[in-house]
Amino acid sequence: MIRLERFSFTYPGEDQPALSDLSFEVPAGQFYGLVGPNGAGKSTLCYALAGMIPHYFKGTLSGSLTVAEIDIAQSSLGELAGTIGLVFQNPFNQISGSRFSVRGEVALGLENLGVPRDQITDQVDETLEQSGLADLGERSPFALSGGQQQRLAIASILVMQPAVLILDEPTSQLDPVGTSEVYALLHQLVGQHETTVLIAEHKLERLAEFTDNVLVLNQGRLLANGPPKTVLTDPLIEEIGVQPTRYTQAARQARARGLILKKDEFPLTLQDAQEFFDDAAV
Ligand SMILES: Nc1ncnc2c1ncn2[C@@H]1O[C@H](COP(=O)(O)OP(=O)(O)OP(=O)(O)O)[C@@H](O)[C@H]1O
Ligand SMILES: [Mg+2]
Repeated sequence: MIRLERFSFTYPGEDQPALSDLSFEVPAGQFYGLVGPNGAGKSTLCYALAGMIPHYFKGTLSGSLTVAEIDIAQSSLGELAGTIGLVFQNPFNQISGSRFSVRGEVALGLENLGVPRDQITDQVDETLEQSGLADLGERSPFALSGGQQQRLAIASILVMQPAVLILDEPTSQLDPVGTSEVYALLHQLVGQHETTVLIAEHKLERLAEFTDNVLVLNQGRLLANGPPKTVLTDPLIEEIGVQPTRYTQAARQARARGLILKKDEFPLTLQDAQEFFDDAAV
């Protein structure tokens, strides 16, 4: 569904590419995570996947990038709008400000796609409900808390039911409950509509729980691409400045102090950790 071949991108006036020689594929209906330290290129990759690069951010491209068989560089943002949705890292960038209500804001994308009005009403109602915004439909988008704005940003993309959904750290302003709700919703979408999802996220425990595969970026390069359990417990991610889960950290410390001699892989989640320490205690 998403396919990159030796894809590189350099912002105008920069010496170093922000994305360098990336090759990977995301099959249809898969849920992929994207991790990397600050400045690794996660947002830049999200922009490229959604066609913001090169249609909004200019720069130098090489290699190829196709999403749903569409060559991103050869098509317009209008053509991509119904197929690929991007949720920005900062919800302020998503909210158009041209509508006075949450409901109007969520309807905007469907209006731009030319969807009939009664269908818009139904889809907006359903999305507001799913996103936990049903009671806030008449509120001004600017009278929402950070977490509510983040849910609005996600809702305004979800409502269009894109085949490919790209999310750039969409839960950064949400508390653990809000984060769980967003992930539950994404998980449901993948199950129901076979949406292909790629999510940049620093909450590794969430990725452990929900993703099929995780990509690791550092300085614009792809360092790893594999199952969350393998990739996210690899010492390599800590070396590049990504904080492992507390369970991985606890197990590493226990081993470093000689409390545990086990050599097999480190735990990623609470459940893994329980097994890891139970086994070690025998
Ligand atoms: N508009 C721009 N013009 C020039 N350079 C940019 C631009 N946007 C980002 N960069 C640079 O590209 C590199 C990748 O940045 P990017 O924002 O994609 O990283 P990130 O992984 O999303 O970081 P963060 O975790 O802070 O969100 C960085 O070196 C950054 O300084
Ligand atoms: Mg970013």
